[in-house]
Amino acid sequence: IHVDWDAVTAEKGGYEHFMLKEIHEQPRAYRDTMLGRIDHDNHQVVLPELKLSVEQIKNIRNVQIVACGTAYNAGLIGRTVIEQFARIPVENDVASEYRYRSPIITPETLVIVVSQSGETADTLAALREAKANGAHVLAITNVVGSSIARDADDVLVTLAGPEIAVASTKAYTSQLIAFYLFGLYLAQVRGTMTKDEIAHVLAAMESLPEQVEAMLNNADTIKSYAEHIAKHKHLFFIGRGQDYAVVQEGSLKLKEISYIHSEAYAAGELKHGTLALIEDGVPVISLITQESVMEKTLSNIKEVKARGAEVLAISYEEHAAELLKSVDHVITIPKTLPVLTAALSVVTLQLLAYYASLALGHDVDKPRNLAKSVTVE
Ligand code: G6P
Repeated sequence: IHVDWDAVTAEKGGYEHFMLKEIHEQPRAYRDTMLGRIDHDNHQVVLPELKLSVEQIKNIRNVQIVACGTAYNAGLIGRTVIEQFARIPVENDVASEYRYRSPIITPETLVIVVSQSGETADTLAALREAKANGAHVLAITNVVGSSIARDADDVLVTLAGPEIAVASTKAYTSQLIAFYLFGLYLAQVRGTMTKDEIAHVLAAMESLPEQVEAMLNNADTIKSYAEHIAKHKHLFFIGRGQDYAVVQEGSLKLKEISYIHSEAYAAGELKHGTLALIEDGVPVISLITQESVMEKTLSNIKEVKARGAEVLAISYEEHAAELLKSVDHVITIPKTLPVLTAALSVVTLQLLAYYASLALGHDVDKPRNLAKSVTVE
């Protein structure tokens, strides 16, 4: 018998593309990134690798999260997590802008740089700027021996394993896990959450891998919706709070590999201009999981519906029936805590981008003009 074999096919482990393989590796990446960092007996996070002392943590006045591309989008979630858990003010910067805005850095500033590769030139330059100004720099990276890991004061490694597809998936979600762990750790040290509250979040985190597995086994609706949007040239994503941060990543992913133009908007901001672009049949993908602002997002959905948009809502099963009264399609995700929802909802958006690219016949793993790692400023 003759068997077709080549090294790349073998590396894809039976998947058609690296991106799909890496999407499917996420449950393992979540588990590996949590492994050994949760003390189950005492319901707390343990990060012995950090040099950051208890005293330094207590003294942190502000956090700046600096990164590029998908890592920047992970930092947007990092902000919501750190602010909620540890009540420390957080700013997000794209690394190429950070150095040139004379950021206000003091010895009580913690700068977190996020980088899958650990080699992005803009992020490395930002790290050096922060250090030169006296900040303590923590790197969240997937590559232990990278330039960014070597230059940072502290490193929190994500254990996503090698990521080959240009469009980042499991690196992003592992960065979210790292932020959850680090946010809880700050809260523990600063006493901003009770032991019970921390235990509650940890338990929900440990269910995430199985919940992602369930989503991956149920991707048919996402695939057919992706084939539908592949016929469109422009679309919008909307969301509030954490959902807004996630749609920014979803929109980036879709642009990167399907070349469909999309914009991600804070749901409440649409009416201040962008609504002018909504006309008959324009798809609007609305991520609506944050119960505290659900009513508000729903009224934004009605605004676009009234102007002819075709709306997909992504939410929890329990809201599906109600949402279907106002939207055209609903895709559900498993239920988790509001602060952890990104680790599930983004999987739907990754699959959407993947299947749209596939439907359009693009090179999913190697999109035009993009590089996996950009080492020029
Ligand atoms: C490149 C890639 C992006 C990535 C960004 C940051 O532009 O195409 O997918 O998000 O670099 O990469 P990093 O390795 O620093 O996370």
